[in-house]
Amino acid sequence: MFLTDEETGMLNGEKGPAVKKAMEILVALGEGFGAKRLVTINNVHMAGSSVLVAEEAGTKFVEDIQNQGGRFVTNVTTNPTAVDPTQWEEIGIDESDHILQNRLTNSYAGMGANTCNTCIPYLVGNSPRFGEHMAWGESSAVVYANSVCGARTNREGGPSGLASALTGRTPEYGFHLKENRHGKFLIKVETQLNDMTDFGTLGYFAGKIAGQDTPVFTGISSNPTLEQLKALSAALASSGAVSMFHAVGVTPEAPTLDEAFGGREPEKILVFGDKEKEMAEAALNKEPSDHVDWILIGCPNASVQEIREVAEALQGKKVHKDVSLWVTTAGSMYAMAERMGYIQTIKEAGGVVVRETCPFLARSRVIAPKKGYKTLTTNSAKMAFYAPGQFGLPTHYGNLNRVMKAAINGVWG
Ligand code: F3S
Repeated sequence: MFLTDEETGMLNGEKGPAVKKAMEILVALGEGFGAKRLVTINNVHMAGSSVLVAEEAGTKFVEDIQNQGGRFVTNVTTNPTAVDPTQWEEIGIDESDHILQNRLTNSYAGMGANTCNTCIPYLVGNSPRFGEHMAWGESSAVVYANSVCGARTNREGGPSGLASALTGRTPEYGFHLKENRHGKFLIKVETQLNDMTDFGTLGYFAGKIAGQDTPVFTGISSNPTLEQLKALSAALASSGAVSMFHAVGVTPEAPTLDEAFGGREPEKILVFGDKEKEMAEAALNKEPSDHVDWILIGCPNASVQEIREVAEALQGKKVHKDVSLWVTTAGSMYAMAERMGYIQTIKEAGGVVVRETCPFLARSRVIAPKKGYKTLTTNSAKMAFYAPGQFGLPTHYGNLNRVMKAAINGVWG
């Protein structure tokens, strides 16, 4: 792989041991994927920010990098952690995770990260521009950035994200190259997509077929909301390893079908109609009984608009006494929702707005038995896909209206 003089100097240790180690990681990665060179970047979203993933060994690795003089040379935002910083005890998180998480978060902050701890960096100030090369982790955010923003990133893991933040470089392969960004197969949407959950169901359906390939959708209204597109992005990256999609007439690299496919023919053509939507939704409903105990809204993290919808559904009502309702979001979304009075409404009704973590990145295998949770009920296709396998809770999956009724009535009607 070609390296500039500056990059060769970094690899030889001229900028210290932390940068040397980082450059070794990037060169190994680039050579493994056949990159011809590194590309300069100024934007990293760090995936390895939860101690559920990092544990003691990963935390120590990050601290060592900091102690060796490592400092971030790009803008860096961080993904959710394993802990709500103020309500950890109340929601069932162990003190040991709280302590370890503080070490990891402080280490990232000490090297210059914006520790926003959210999977929606594009809503809290890290807004990618069209064509920008970046190194982002968090699969849902990667799909959103590539597809909706037209930025260019592969799916980075914790070590490669850290290495890019220390050097301002990422290997140029995969989705950094225009020729790899075209669609492979076509999905004709021939059913009404009414809400975020329908978009998530479409993502689940398409992701299962896609593997790592890029789907192209036709038939999506030209005016989907940001929340709908983030639900689609998250689900595509869950049931599949998708990094990008095109929606003709919606996303910036797909003004026409021909441009979405780069002038090539689709390898296959599928239809997502009423029947496919119904079957995909049923596949995400794994819990046969009506029992409801843990409800999750906010995967990916809730926007202020989503928090408002939850508050409106709870106006003058109470969450059922046997139900825990979590709405997970970023700290800055929380602050804005608090200013609008939505947080108070949710709290008074018995729900909790959780910051900086989610059931997937917190230790749910500990939280669930501690709190007696046996099921998970959600409007998120991503969470419904992961909950049974990752933390052993069968799911109820449906739109916000249905989920909020379950929150109030205590049954999945
Ligand atoms: Fe975000 Fe956690 Fe879902 S990181 S996308 S809320 S699984």
